[in-house]
Amino acid sequence: MNATLWWQGGIFYQVYPRSYQDSNADGVGDLPGLIARLPYLRQLGVDAVWLSPIFPSPMADFGYDISDYTGIDPVFGTMADFDALITAAHASGLKLILDLVPNHTSDRHPWFLESRSSRDNFRRDWYIWRDGAPDGGPPNNWLSEFGGSAWQHDAATGQYYYHAFLSQQPDLNWRNPQVRHAMHDVMRFWLRRGVDGFRVDVIWHLIKDAQFRDNPANPNHRPGHPPNEALLPLHTTDQDEVHDVIAGMRRVIDEFDQRVLIGEIYLPIERLVAYYGKNLLGAHLPFNFALLSAPWNARSIESIIAEYEEALPPGAWPNWVLGNHDRPRIASRVGPEQARVAAMLLLSLRGTPTLYYGDEIGMRQVAIAPGQVRDPFEKNVPGLGVGRDGCRTPMQWDAGPNAGFSNGVPWLPLADDFARENVRNLDADPASILNLYKALIGLRRQHQALISGSYQPIAAKEDLLIYRRAGESNSVLVVLNFGDDPVELVSAEIGLKGELLLSTVMDRTGEKIAGSLDLRGNEGVMILTPRTG
Ligand code: NOJ
Repeated sequence: MNATLWWQGGIFYQVYPRSYQDSNADGVGDLPGLIARLPYLRQLGVDAVWLSPIFPSPMADFGYDISDYTGIDPVFGTMADFDALITAAHASGLKLILDLVPNHTSDRHPWFLESRSSRDNFRRDWYIWRDGAPDGGPPNNWLSEFGGSAWQHDAATGQYYYHAFLSQQPDLNWRNPQVRHAMHDVMRFWLRRGVDGFRVDVIWHLIKDAQFRDNPANPNHRPGHPPNEALLPLHTTDQDEVHDVIAGMRRVIDEFDQRVLIGEIYLPIERLVAYYGKNLLGAHLPFNFALLSAPWNARSIESIIAEYEEALPPGAWPNWVLGNHDRPRIASRVGPEQARVAAMLLLSLRGTPTLYYGDEIGMRQVAIAPGQVRDPFEKNVPGLGVGRDGCRTPMQWDAGPNAGFSNGVPWLPLADDFARENVRNLDADPASILNLYKALIGLRRQHQALISGSYQPIAAKEDLLIYRRAGESNSVLVVLNFGDDPVELVSAEIGLKGELLLSTVMDRTGEKIAGSLDLRGNEGVMILTPRTG
């Protein structure tokens, strides 16, 4: 399938703005800081930046609790800074994607203040209010993702409101057409300002059961897992009617030229693909997070790819994600050598790749001491390892004070190895993970097969994952070793013939391959082969 649109051929890069670059020494990253780092992103070679929320917010959930959808929080800068960012991004050929958080507002949003002010306020029904159960307890058993009941009692009006996340994040009522209109206008506000699309927060949560039925118990829930997983979210997420809501958002996107709608969705593949929508008029890219929790071995990754390729509706464009601000860093999850294999995997699979800031320099999960915890999830549900601070630490730019991130005290601690593991240092090392990322991005740009070529799995055993991306004029054979042991591959059938484009160890480019291939432990290679079948 040919990539004809920019978001099909492009590479996305997520910036968590609090941690990217601080320009005013308050220890928190900001928009002028990001502007200063655009040349880095251009050099890296990515095409689009997705910015986690930058809107006014009490920061109970670090920006995912919005109190004004059409402003900029002063900690990040001003609207003039935003306009400067979009102009500078576009001038350097980068697209800018904003985070749209339509499922919930902050409890300080004027809409919620009005809604909670009285039962007959005209905005009462913009949120989800219910009477308590006959015993006065919550209306049903629904649980918050961040621990405890999802219902908060409001003494002033004697009802409960629903919050899928923190009690400071009341859920909007998307069954109310006024809410839809208001949010569509928010989208238009930013689209008119020039943003190239949205990543929509928890899009599969937007509609809840109209009858407010209890969720059933999860028979597989084990101690040590977050308490909300004790129930299956049968009636709180992934409701059929959500697809109408998404189609409505898509119509707004389509009022503008060349914009993209990306949905944040944690669902099994067979449910996920429904989010492309009827006639593909849903999300352009329902985020595919399968790699985030995949057991890291060749066979399970192979079957995930096969399942995804098989499940995609005709014409749907695939995508892959390796990290984000909610999940442990890939380099910590799989180790530094496999992080390189993971990079090669991400950038050679069929589908738009999304990189998480810092993964290109191999940033690891940073240990957070109890007194340093900022994440409300960790604070509410301590001790289970759910904390997200460790993957949100400041970008490591150089060996200077605070890694060049800030002249103030960073809001989260820096990795203690930043003097070595930083952009400046790794840039100077030709074999670094950063230069591997650059080379992979360059190859993706250079070889049409890596973007538009088909995905052809090749049977392999044990620790090897092998596939071909077959393009019009040539193909790229990808051979990844997920194990520590070296492997010798001899096979005429898979067309082991061509020129080695890149090894994850960065020392074999140009090697001629003819009939056999020696791979070291934890090595991946890409081989340019003449077009076959
Ligand atoms: C998903 C976001 O990615 C996460 O960071 C946030 O806490 C929840 N949505 C609630 O908005």
